[in-house]
Amino acid sequence: MSEAEPQSRRPLSAEAVRAAVLAGSALFTAVEVVPSTGSTNADLLAAARAGVAAGSVLVAEEQTAGRGRLDRTWESQPGAGLTFSVLLRPTEVPGGSRGWLPLLTGVAITTALRTQAAVEADLKWPNDVLAGGTDGQRKLAGILAEQAGDAIVVGIGLNVSSARSELPSGLATSLLLAGAATLDRQAILTAALRELEVWYLRWTGADPPGDASTSGLRAAYLRACSTVGRDVRVELPSGGILAGRAVDVDNAGRLMVTGPDGVHAVSAGDVVHVR
Ligand code: BTN
Repeated sequence: MSEAEPQSRRPLSAEAVRAAVLAGSALFTAVEVVPSTGSTNADLLAAARAGVAAGSVLVAEEQTAGRGRLDRTWESQPGAGLTFSVLLRPTEVPGGSRGWLPLLTGVAITTALRTQAAVEADLKWPNDVLAGGTDGQRKLAGILAEQAGDAIVVGIGLNVSSARSELPSGLATSLLLAGAATLDRQAILTAALRELEVWYLRWTGADPPGDASTSGLRAAYLRACSTVGRDVRVELPSGGILAGRAVDVDNAGRLMVTGPDGVHAVSAGDVVHVR
């Protein structure tokens, strides 16, 4: 393991993160860093139901019941990654466009990783963040968006200094394994939240609000996304399989797949890149 590991696993300083994230922010209102919790998404969903305003950020050094997409779990070693959630209320965005929020988060995370850690991260639809090593693209980060009334909580799990033996599956990677220029969790967290703010304000402030095209989000997503333009196999939540070519992402954030029987709009599922 790298000599950088002990330093990168030092607990985050809540004051330093707060100072960097809240100063001059037009979005973030509160940042809390806790040593351990079940799930930062579950905590902020409860806060949303209790009426907490948009802009709260919750970061956990450890999650004991981290949740993933499609009812999976998210596992990470304390201090070896970043696990955090943001409470948002995009009330100005029509319901049909809110599916873009998790994709927007993916754009923010890949941008932050490219600029802050010099890692060529890309996105597998909808928002798995992938990075390469000597043995191909693996999952570096995952994003989970969950709704409570008009609130959406987006949670991000990013593997930072995890060694191969600490990762849950052979399909995962970390910034350490991807040869990142830095493993500084504070700097990466701050950059990720800054990018999230930039894209969120652009998207909600677009004409019309939430429009993926006029905000520039769609173009940025397509640049970062390695799924569109490839042959894919989609494992649908129903258990069905859709095989075809991913050709676009529509105004609702759905993946458009051309199969033998026409074009399908996929709103959820697991994508495998075939070619
Ligand atoms: C996925 O790829 O399946 C999504 C994983 C999302 C994990 C993050 S970690 C912070 C936040 N809290 C959770 O319980 N899950 C998300």
